[in-house]
Amino acid sequence: PRCIYLSRHGESIYNLEKKIGGDSSLSPRGLKYAEKLPELVKQDAGDVDLTVWTSTLIRTQETAQYLPYKQLQWKALDELDAGVCDGMTYEEIEKEFPEDFRARDENKYEYRYRGGESYRDVVIRLEPIIMELERQENILIITHQAVLRCIYAYFMNVPQEESPWVAIPLHTLIKLEPRAYGTKVTLIKADI
Ligand code: G3H
Repeated sequence: PRCIYLSRHGESIYNLEKKIGGDSSLSPRGLKYAEKLPELVKQDAGDVDLTVWTSTLIRTQETAQYLPYKQLQWKALDELDAGVCDGMTYEEIEKEFPEDFRARDENKYEYRYRGGESYRDVVIRLEPIIMELERQENILIITHQAVLRCIYAYFMNVPQEESPWVAIPLHTLIKLEPRAYGTKVTLIKADI
């Protein structure tokens, strides 16, 4: 039976600086995760052939760099676009755009960053990815928190409006096995 592996990119420099968006590289700890990932995957998947899908952003490609499988980049897997808030910390956003900050808290699914995207926008741009996933064999997707929340919610039948609050742990491989009666999920944590 086929399965879908999901992973966030390893910890990035921006993650350390608590900044959202951007296109930063991995932190030293994030790089350790990238180095561990091939063995983490192999321990579970054995010798089955996988295809790796990443976003077009550096941190996902650095996370995928040691994986011995065919790789494909999708723009549709890029992180939720924070528009004018790209590169800011949540503290800075709260100070500079207090109304936006509150509006987002009140309706995180619908809130669209100025010049950017909402979770709903991400769900819509993920439709072709989901369609392709349904047709494919074993895929490993390395992408971003907001995007993974939407993909996870789709397969786990979580209402999409709740997707902005789904917890996607860092440095953990998530294995999804879609079945007729529901999707089985297994978390495989890297000890780094
Ligand atoms: O940088 C963006 C985050 O991955 C999304 O987090 O939607 O909880 O602000 P958030």
